[in-house]
Amino acid sequence: MAIDGPAGSGKSTVGRALAARLGVEYLDTGAMYRAVTSAVLRRGLDPQDAVAVAELAREVEISVGAGGVSVDGIDVTAEIRGPEVTRTVSLVAANPDVRAEMVRRQREWTRVRGGGVLEGRDIGTVVFPDAALKVYLTASPEVRARRRTAEVSDLDFKTVAADIARRDALDQGREASPLTQADDAVVVDTSDLSVEAIVDQLVSRLPGQREAASTRPAPDSTALAHGGDRGRHGHARPGTRGELILYGVVRGALLAFARLWFRVKASGTHNVPERGAFILAPVHRSNLDFMLVLVVTRRRMRFLAKDTLWKGPWARLFTALGGIPVARGTVDREALRTCIEVIEAGEPLVMFPEGTRQHGPVVQPFFDGPAFVQSRTGVPIVPVGIGGSEAAMPRGSKLIKPHRVRLVVGAPMNAESVDGSKARRAWVRARTADLHATVQELFDRAQRDAGTPNPSR
Ligand code: DC
Repeated sequence: MAIDGPAGSGKSTVGRALAARLGVEYLDTGAMYRAVTSAVLRRGLDPQDAVAVAELAREVEISVGAGGVSVDGIDVTAEIRGPEVTRTVSLVAANPDVRAEMVRRQREWTRVRGGGVLEGRDIGTVVFPDAALKVYLTASPEVRARRRTAEVSDLDFKTVAADIARRDALDQGREASPLTQADDAVVVDTSDLSVEAIVDQLVSRLPGQREAASTRPAPDSTALAHGGDRGRHGHARPGTRGELILYGVVRGALLAFARLWFRVKASGTHNVPERGAFILAPVHRSNLDFMLVLVVTRRRMRFLAKDTLWKGPWARLFTALGGIPVARGTVDREALRTCIEVIEAGEPLVMFPEGTRQHGPVVQPFFDGPAFVQSRTGVPIVPVGIGGSEAAMPRGSKLIKPHRVRLVVGAPMNAESVDGSKARRAWVRARTADLHATVQELFDRAQRDAGTPNPSR
């Protein structure tokens, strides 16, 4: 597993925690470049002397582990974090021959252990381009400088911030394996996330961790599957802590109103998965439905909405509430891409299979979007009936009547493994028909519970 990113982005903390969670070893490759640098300085070599430095890199004995860092048997754990090494390390790390030797040692370290978590700048791009998991961590320059200042007691914030900016420029601008994001890396901004939340997210991205991963067809969807965090709008990413708090507060307020006004209740909520992504597929009869579905789970659910809503102060609120802007007139394919990105980022997604708000007791024909997204991602679909919402606020009405509302959540419909694009298309059609029948049944029950029973068909 490869973790890359700039200084202070949280690589070491996240890397150690991930390794501990998975019971594998962890290697800080930055410490290796620092160790070579300390050997260069100790021997009084000129760091600019590329040939001498490369020769030293090849012969020096380096040990990096939980017990600290040593060079030729001398403990340099503290020294390599000092200002002198920190100042010189970028120069040493830019030496292509030093890099070749370090990469060789890193591959050997991994081969001997049969795997592990490696952290650095070029792990996902150069050392292990085929890593099982590639992570690129970022954080705002301010947060990164604050973290580093807390680590090194004798330097002030301004000095550290300037040093980080200088090293960023050197690491990103050098010829040999500059710091870049692998195309298929999972990108996580660690500024506002807890270590545990990040590790949870990364573990869920490991191959074999997702349900029915085999239903995800190979070549055309891999770019989507891995590029999740850098979706078209950058919205297909897990919520920051601030957003999740805001979501909780707004959800609480909306539900307090809905409980008072509609006496809203849901049955079957045990069917909602507590972890991982899923697709919530409710019937759609009223603009209130967006608010009413909040009752089925405390977890933040995402939904697509017109991008014209993202204006001024509302933009942040809609994003925090899990909204994802889609351009009006967006072709279906693009909207579905976004849906897949959201799911791949690990969050639940609300998809109204009727497309837009409909009217009356009969569930209208379904788009096959939810089944299609399921076939691509392997996550369950959770069907939902909402009863009474049309009576509470029918189309064209500005008034919200205090009508009773009931939701009925059905059993999750799991993905099945299908091979071949023809078979998959047939499967998507069959799943859509199945889902339609199930939602109709749940809608009938919910309408009955809400006191507005659908006429029997
Ligand atoms: O992560 P760190 O700050 O301890 O890294 C020290 C330096 O080593 C940093 O300037 C970038 C460089 N480095 C690198 O070029 N390639 C790596 N895989 C790891 C670190």
